[in-house]
Amino acid sequence: MEKIAVIGAGLIGRAWAMVFARAGHPVALYDAAPGAVDQAIGLIRDGLAETRHFGLIEESPDAVMPRIRAATSLEDAIADADYVQENTSEREDVKRDVFSKMDAAAKADCILASSTSTIQTSRFAGHVPGRHRCLVAHPVNPPHVVPIVELSPAPFTSPDVVERARVLHESVGQVPILVRKEVEGFILNRLQAALLIESWRLVDEGYVSVEDLDKTIRDGLGLRWAFMGPFETIDLNAPGGVADYAARYGPKLTGMMQGLTARPWEGDLVAKVEAERRERMPHADHAVREAWRDRRLMALVAHKRTMDGQD
Ligand SMILES: NC(=O)c1ccc[n+]([C@@H]2O[C@H](COP(=O)([O-])OP(=O)(O)OC[C@H]3O[C@@H](n4cnc5c(N)ncnc54)[C@H](O)[C@@H]3O)[C@@H](O)[C@H]2O)c1
Repeated sequence: MEKIAVIGAGLIGRAWAMVFARAGHPVALYDAAPGAVDQAIGLIRDGLAETRHFGLIEESPDAVMPRIRAATSLEDAIADADYVQENTSEREDVKRDVFSKMDAAAKADCILASSTSTIQTSRFAGHVPGRHRCLVAHPVNPPHVVPIVELSPAPFTSPDVVERARVLHESVGQVPILVRKEVEGFILNRLQAALLIESWRLVDEGYVSVEDLDKTIRDGLGLRWAFMGPFETIDLNAPGGVADYAARYGPKLTGMMQGLTARPWEGDLVAKVEAERRERMPHADHAVREAWRDRRLMALVAHKRTMDGQD
């Protein structure tokens, strides 16, 4: 099995450690903050137990944990790694520095991938001699439950590295997609932004309440989106398929979105949405509701796996 190094043991790093270790890979985990790795190892054990409870892994935490070791330095973590997943702070200067160190410490054929949500590969890896082996592998929180990974190489990234990263992520049960050209926000966050921009507008202009808008996704569009994307949706929503859909509904739907611009999310508008959300969920319940969300996600992923097996 390829040896994996996970750099940065916060929320995302520790979830990646679970993804690779439960798939059988040895994982070296490093964090610059004293005590962070020890704390992460406790949380990883809890996370593995929870995913097992939902049937997402077969092995017990006791069987998986020995594959994860606490590295004493970045160099110690990386020296014999075949693949590195970097999860340090979301700052370009930090990533540039960490990628310099990782490139200097890694074996010649080791892949260096970043979990960054917003910084393109060209911006954090263009300066390193081994830039051909650098790319973004952007997960969604939490990656040990939500499988999508956006692979976003720079023009200088070797196609072979992209392919090896794709194969590795697929082999550990993630769902990699390829961002063919560098673009701000990659794909997932651009889609999320488009939906949010229209959501804020509809509430701002008084067309709908915050709760009714959420219901429209939760009990409407989102039901299909849990197992098919928007293109497959429209392909099935017209008897002649996607071309038929485009002819029937294209002019109306594109027409209503002409001149769409993003208005700032600030002032009275934010206060209005905030007030409605706090009425439904007091701040004090935030952590409880987050845990609820993760349990529901795990149950949904388990359900999808069962159904995939029956298709
Ligand atoms: N949180 C999310 O929802 C999410 C989702 C997708 C991607 N990401 C990306 O994942 C990365 C990590 O995010 P997070 O939410 O886990 O942050 P976090 O703050 O929970 O963890 C970051 C960790 O990196 C460590 N660190 C900082 N500088 C370091 C260095 N030079 N060397 C080693 N360790 C260092 C910190 O001590 C900390 O433990 C970011 O790039 C973020 O954009 C986050």
